[in-house]
Amino acid sequence: MCSQQLRSLPQLLAMALTLAVATSARGSTQYTAEQLRQLGIGNLVNLPLYTDLPRAKYEFIVVGAGAAGCTLAARLSENPKHSVYLIEAGGVENLMHLLPVMAASLQLTASNWNYKSVPQRLSCRGMPNNECALPRGKVLGGTSSINYMIYNRGNRNDFDTWAQRGNHGWTYAEVLPYFLRSESAQLQGLEHSAYHNHSGPLSVEDVKFRTTLAHSYLRAAQEAGHRRTDYNGESQLGVSYVQATTLKGRRHSAFRAYIEPVRPHRKNLHILTMARVTRILIDDATKTAYGVELRHAGILYQVRARKEVILSAGAFNSPQLLMLSGIGPADNLQAIGVPLVQALPVGRLLYDHMCHFGPTFVTNTTGQTLFTARLTPPVIKDFLLGRADTMISSIGGVETLTFIKVPSAQTDASQPDIELIQVAGSLASDEGTSLARGANFKPEIYNRMYEDLSRRQQDHFSFLIMQFKPQSVGRLWLHTRNPLEWPRIDPKYFKDTRDVEQLLEGIKESIRISKMPALQAIGTRLLDRIVPGCESYRFASDDYWRCSIRTLSYTLHHQVATCRMGPASDPTAVVSPQLRVHGMRRLRVVDTSVIPLPPTAHTNAAAFMIGEKAADLIRGEWS
Ligand SMILES: Cc1cc2nc3c(=O)[nH]c(=O)nc-3n(C[C@H](O)[C@H](O)[C@H](O)COP(=O)(O)OP(=O)(O)OC[C@H]3O[C@@H](n4cnc5c(N)ncnc54)[C@H](O)[C@@H]3O)c2cc1C
Ligand SMILES: *[C@@H]1O[C@H](CO)[C@@H](O)[C@H](O)[C@H]1NC(C)=O
Ligand SMILES: *[C@@H]1O[C@H](CO)[C@@H](O)[C@H](O)[C@H]1NC(C)=O
Repeated sequence: MCSQQLRSLPQLLAMALTLAVATSARGSTQYTAEQLRQLGIGNLVNLPLYTDLPRAKYEFIVVGAGAAGCTLAARLSENPKHSVYLIEAGGVENLMHLLPVMAASLQLTASNWNYKSVPQRLSCRGMPNNECALPRGKVLGGTSSINYMIYNRGNRNDFDTWAQRGNHGWTYAEVLPYFLRSESAQLQGLEHSAYHNHSGPLSVEDVKFRTTLAHSYLRAAQEAGHRRTDYNGESQLGVSYVQATTLKGRRHSAFRAYIEPVRPHRKNLHILTMARVTRILIDDATKTAYGVELRHAGILYQVRARKEVILSAGAFNSPQLLMLSGIGPADNLQAIGVPLVQALPVGRLLYDHMCHFGPTFVTNTTGQTLFTARLTPPVIKDFLLGRADTMISSIGGVETLTFIKVPSAQTDASQPDIELIQVAGSLASDEGTSLARGANFKPEIYNRMYEDLSRRQQDHFSFLIMQFKPQSVGRLWLHTRNPLEWPRIDPKYFKDTRDVEQLLEGIKESIRISKMPALQAIGTRLLDRIVPGCESYRFASDDYWRCSIRTLSYTLHHQVATCRMGPASDPTAVVSPQLRVHGMRRLRVVDTSVIPLPPTAHTNAAAFMIGEKAADLIRGEWS
């Protein structure tokens, strides 16, 4: 009866999304066949749950199925003699993960670890208790399954600097082949570029939906002197439409790219989701890792690795697991009662890319800005039926990136200092729901600055102004040996005022671009709402922006260096250039936590590169 009834599309989508949210909140995506049939979307969400209970032994154990972990597990298991066990704390993706425009909503689901920083003094003043939101992916695919899908590799100098610090094998010339190995590009105009590959596992494409605001902005940026560029090519400096890790307009996570296609044929690749690794098993006498302990469905298991244990648990959890296992700063381990195995500066450094949320500009156009209210039944239906050029394919509204140098820059002339991330919306786009809650903004910020834009469906666009090389350095530590507790994270954003000054220079450049003819032609002007907490400053004065920067603080979640890579002679290093934990045997870290310095990029592409390179290092040593 019920299934015979014809349902309207809004009903179907409401059901699909409710189901998606509800099931991901429980951490599983077990749909009944009947539910899937009713939804007509079985092919999108009908995924296995990946619950291979552990065998006694594997050749390799990979902890964490994020961007780097999925890549590594897939590559290692190409050799049928290598049995690989991939262990993931989260569940499996569902329909919501596939919809790029819904990126922010994923932060409100069980696919997010949902960390918060310790209260900050000099940043995140727009957040309750000054706690910055620090989301991380907790799902098969890791953070690549909840991120904004921007594909960006970094500057030649970044990698050459890693190598100069003693990390042999990591120059740009040496890592570029690994970026290429992972990539399958569909980028208009770059079909013959030596910087792009077309046959790797990870799809990188143009976003096929673009607002006229993006076109106007791109022209204005060129009028202001920023040339068109491929920011993953010869030179980063300039303006470009964004390149996205999507496939036909749907999110292409590490899981979709590396695991889903090969899993059915790989008898030697076992995967366990909803399983939390609680410590590494170590033979103290020889400092050799021989397995891990994990919890799954209330049961504690011990699994052994004949060859290696590899941590790919991300920039917060890999250092946590090392410390829970006795590898870390002696004072911290003593304080929490974990016997010391190997003293190393785990978590002692933490870099991130802090941004300013804004400025926002209003325009005289109509119908361009992304509002969730515009997700109408026909749009949803078209997307579900395979169209890639609807607003659903917009990657959280991000449309163009501009890489600029600022006047105070001390870096090399070829190296950008600031990125202007242009977004076809603001907190008004979703009526102050997911975006605001994901960033942990206080309700009055939406109410006072954005609520009426949403009510009037006023066209507008915003920038996230991002600084690449912050001087402020944070750290991470454990306050308990309970493996289920959060690590304490103190990013110390804006401790160094030079970081605020660089962001101010970036804000000024975005305002300068807004005055160019192409944006003036559509009546572009600064949204002149005062940020709550900055009322004592004259709007748009330098001091006003400084206050705004410390209030509308918005991290782009590019935390690195908590398990820093460096040679044994480097007192700040945790892993060697081969990614082996110093002083230990058969134990590596393979994820973004090893990146030694803040890169001139978003960090997802690098996570894939690190996974690819680590696979070669490991295969080379065991062949
Ligand atoms: C909201 C958001 C948006 C972002 N947007 C972009 C973007 O647009 N472009 C970009 O380049 N970068 C972006 N980033 C950053 C980028 O996605 C990450 O830096 C990158 O994906 C990290 O990869 P990783 O392999 O180091 O770790 P992760 O992908 O975080 O993987 C770690 C995995 O380990 C699992 N794990 C952790 N602890 C345990 C344990 N104890 N037991 C078992 N499993 C465990 C986690 O659940 C997770 O799946 C974004 C990040 C966030 C949070
Ligand atoms: C492209 O990717 C494939 C698959 O990973 C790889 O075999 C090939 O070498 C890559 N090509 C280039 C030019 O890097
Ligand atoms: C945009 O709209 C404003 C307010 O209605 C008006 O004053 C201005 O002239 C318009 N500008 C353009 C370029 O249309």
